[in-house]
Amino acid sequence: MKTSPQKATHKNPCPFVFLIGFMGAGKSAVASGLQRRLSIDRIEMDREIELGEGMTIPEIFSKKGQEYFRDLETGLLKSLETRNGCVVSCGGGAILRPENVRIMKSLGRILWLTASPVTIWERVRFSENRPLLKGRMDPESIRQMMEERRPAYERAADLIIDTDQKSVDQVVEEIIRMIE
Ligand code: S3P
Repeated sequence: MKTSPQKATHKNPCPFVFLIGFMGAGKSAVASGLQRRLSIDRIEMDREIELGEGMTIPEIFSKKGQEYFRDLETGLLKSLETRNGCVVSCGGGAILRPENVRIMKSLGRILWLTASPVTIWERVRFSENRPLLKGRMDPESIRQMMEERRPAYERAADLIIDTDQKSVDQVVEEIIRMIE
């Protein structure tokens, strides 16, 4: 597991910072914090996809299916190649496609926010906009899904940040120390 900053290999003079991690890992809140703290732009992948499709994430999943949604994620990541670097809050499954990870790595650095299954469950238990957790909203199902995805997160991550028992501000400061 990699725990120290990797040498950046991207060509972009203003690199991207991609926040990855399971649903409820705190990607959006931390991206917001980084945006404020560093005065940089922020992209919420799910939000951009919803705006582009004129549908919510659950609607996209139910009307068009998961593969369609994954294609939208890949398309959005490709479109970043022509944009200025900023912080990107990725959907929890964006790292499932190796192509997506290749694009992210070519554009900047990938930070994996982690938390225990129980912490994740506490954060998302009342959420109704996560179709993949429908009917699986319990710590054991979450733990299983996290384990299935762990190798993909491990392969993608340049840096790992544990968010358990930490405030958003603490995580933001930790990230700033790591990437500076
Ligand atoms: C997903 C995570 C969601 C959203 C979609 C699929 C996933 O984003 O992209 O429901 O596969 O883990 P968040 O991680 O922001 O909840």
